[in-house]
Amino acid sequence: MTAIIETKGLTKRYGNAAALDGLDLTVRKGEVLGYLGPNGAGKTTTIRLLLGLIKPSDGQALLFGEPASADPAGLHKKIAYVPGETSYWPTMTGAETLRFLANIHGSVDHEYEQELIKKFGFDPDKKVRNYSKGNRQKIALIAALASRAELLIFDEPTSGLDPVMAKVFRDEVRAAKQNGQTIFLSSHILEEVEELCDRVAVLRLGRLVEIGTLDELRHLSALTVEASFKATPPDISHVKHVSNIEIRGNRLRCNVNGPISDLLSTLAKAQPVSLLSRKPSLEELFLALYDEDKK
Ligand SMILES: Nc1ncnc2c1ncn2[C@@H]1O[C@H](COP(=O)(O)OP(=O)(O)O)[C@@H](O)[C@H]1O
Ligand SMILES: [Mg+2]
Repeated sequence: MTAIIETKGLTKRYGNAAALDGLDLTVRKGEVLGYLGPNGAGKTTTIRLLLGLIKPSDGQALLFGEPASADPAGLHKKIAYVPGETSYWPTMTGAETLRFLANIHGSVDHEYEQELIKKFGFDPDKKVRNYSKGNRQKIALIAALASRAELLIFDEPTSGLDPVMAKVFRDEVRAAKQNGQTIFLSSHILEEVEELCDRVAVLRLGRLVEIGTLDELRHLSALTVEASFKATPPDISHVKHVSNIEIRGNRLRCNVNGPISDLLSTLAKAQPVSLLSRKPSLEELFLALYDEDKK
């Protein structure tokens, strides 16, 4: 499959500190890649390097097989980018800004643009200075989606949106994927990543900590078991493969890394009222990866 994005040892240093440190990453055509990491992890730096807005200190970024800096004008026709913070002209209206952005990009699906304006409940007739952060964010999202660009790059796109609008965004990203577009989605909203992304890359302190499908990442983490009892839960501190034991009143919660049988027999003896075992959520995975990194 064709690589739409390929980075090799991509590094950006500011002084002695590496904002991004030796990133090797490939995003294939039609893939939705979730790019996760806490604040300061290097997500925005990565995106700015991909777009050729800043120069790498080391390594390189290839987009559509070409260095990010080779033909910026040509490249940007194939890419639409939604920054985390927008800065548009305060005296232009929403509609004027959309027209302006479409002109820069060189293409727009007008029908789809109108549809998006309706779906996002966006009023295009106000001046930019009178829009809330969420509404300014909508301008960027509508412009990017309506461009139908081959590669969509989103930098924490739903940070200013309410849950209903965040859902509209997710629906449109899914439609873009069905349309064969490639999507690079930087986010710290786990729900959004969990729902949309084929693979997830986790960045921490400028380094790629983990990359894989959610199922692949789940192998790294334990199963979560929750049980409740009529009285105080049994002592499971000696049980094999069990960690992160939490006891609250008559309820018990723990993780299991390995065979679950020892735990089950200990719990069964204490006659649980309810028992639940589940795969970790992305949030739990994410926290587990953090902890690993701290060790
Ligand atoms: N222009 C800059 N000058 C100095 N340090 C920077 C600059 N841009 C980013 N950094 C630093 O690089 C690190 C990564 O930042 P950033 O890519 O914005 O993270 P994220 O988008 O994941 O929150 C942070 O420690 C940040 O302070
Ligand atoms: Mg950022």
